[in-house]
Amino acid sequence: MQITTIHGGRTLHGRIRPAAAKNSVLPLLAASLLGSTPSRLRAVPPLADVATSLALLQAVGAGAMRQGSDLVVTPAGPLQGEIPDYLAGAMRSSVFYLAPLLCRVGMVRLPLPGGCRLGPRPVDIHLSGLAAMGASVELEGIAVTLRRHGPLHGVDFTLRLPSVGATMTLLMAATQAGGTTILRGAACEPEISDLANFLRACGAHITGAGTPVLVIQGGEPLHGAVWTPLPDRIAAATYAAALACAGGEVTVTGCAPAYYAAFLDFLQAAGVEMIRQDDDVTLTRAPAQPLRGRQKLYANAWPAFATDTAPLAAAVLLAADGPSEIYDHLFARRFACADGFAALGAGCRTTGRTLYLDGGAALHGAEVTAPDLRGGAALLLAALGADGVTRLRDPGHIPRGYADLPGELHTLGADCVTEKT
Ligand code: EPU
Repeated sequence: MQITTIHGGRTLHGRIRPAAAKNSVLPLLAASLLGSTPSRLRAVPPLADVATSLALLQAVGAGAMRQGSDLVVTPAGPLQGEIPDYLAGAMRSSVFYLAPLLCRVGMVRLPLPGGCRLGPRPVDIHLSGLAAMGASVELEGIAVTLRRHGPLHGVDFTLRLPSVGATMTLLMAATQAGGTTILRGAACEPEISDLANFLRACGAHITGAGTPVLVIQGGEPLHGAVWTPLPDRIAAATYAAALACAGGEVTVTGCAPAYYAAFLDFLQAAGVEMIRQDDDVTLTRAPAQPLRGRQKLYANAWPAFATDTAPLAAAVLLAADGPSEIYDHLFARRFACADGFAALGAGCRTTGRTLYLDGGAALHGAEVTAPDLRGGAALLLAALGADGVTRLRDPGHIPRGYADLPGELHTLGADCVTEKT
């Protein structure tokens, strides 16, 4: 348990650079198993999910270690396909090991993956795509076992919805499947392109990344690569949202504004001033000036407003000068943080997938609990703009995605201190 104590009302000032994106690093670590030689990922932050991934890689027989800020994965040696329950249960991203272990070992057994409880998170598209490539799929209780008898083969496969994870699974598998694979209805998030570019650096033949149709010429052996993962666009949006909640002037550096343009557009519409230049965004807000409410946001797959930024937007809108609503198309329980917002003095309620915010809240400190990763971050941001002291209890969600969010906000001038119990 981690408890962060936040004294609200401090403005933020300075420059901050997001680290490598969690949602790139985690699939890249799994994809490193596909090469015959080691891969090195540069400048990876010490996230809890990264530690879980390293333990998972070691548990299946790979070498996986931190060297300074880099991670090195050595996939040589005999691997095995049984993913331990306690690692699968610790993070959703254990699902990324289905394809590499199926390809390398010939079988993989994955207990149902954990991660944020954002509502039902099925893996049917991962499984049906791998089955179409020739894998046998056996579901027993809470685990799934995949086997292949001979190499996988290329397919023309349409994803029933543009799942980020399933696109990554099928992209990895297709590099090892004989012949051509066409993935239609693929996700287009920047992290998909990052994975595709990494696999290309490992020797794979992939075109169309960043579009809904990916074409992969598979079956060639891959080698390792040295790779610098994308900057974390959700962390960049988090810092921008922190500025909007607290006021002041902050430059978010080293992350192209195009990666979180929908979020920046939202902040601008709410009244945050900003200059976007090259890989920097400078945001300014006078704390006394209320932000503009009456916003209607719709979170969906890229390039729409990102679901991971929906709770952050809510934190910004709690005290805005009018009501707003946010709908999340992807996750049924995206707004579990609403209880915490209410404890901080906000008028808000969820109906189905929509969060309704009254706006105009005079936020005050309270005892709140992080319900999930982004919801926890959103409560921390809301507390920056609240009057008085907030104690945020976190059973371990926020460190899964941010190495030290309270510490980073502290360097910008926020009064927040974390203790572990
Ligand atoms: N879905 C299915 N079947 C599948 C796969 C997905 O029905 O086989 C559904 C999901 O239930 C969900 C929707 O499709 O309703 C979208 O899920 P997607 O597969 O795109 O998400 P994911 O791969 O599980 C990644 C990120 C999430 C991020 C989403 C959407 C990682 C490790 N996680 O999840 O990040 O919200 O894409 O962009 O890459 C986070 O960082 O806090 C986080 C939850």
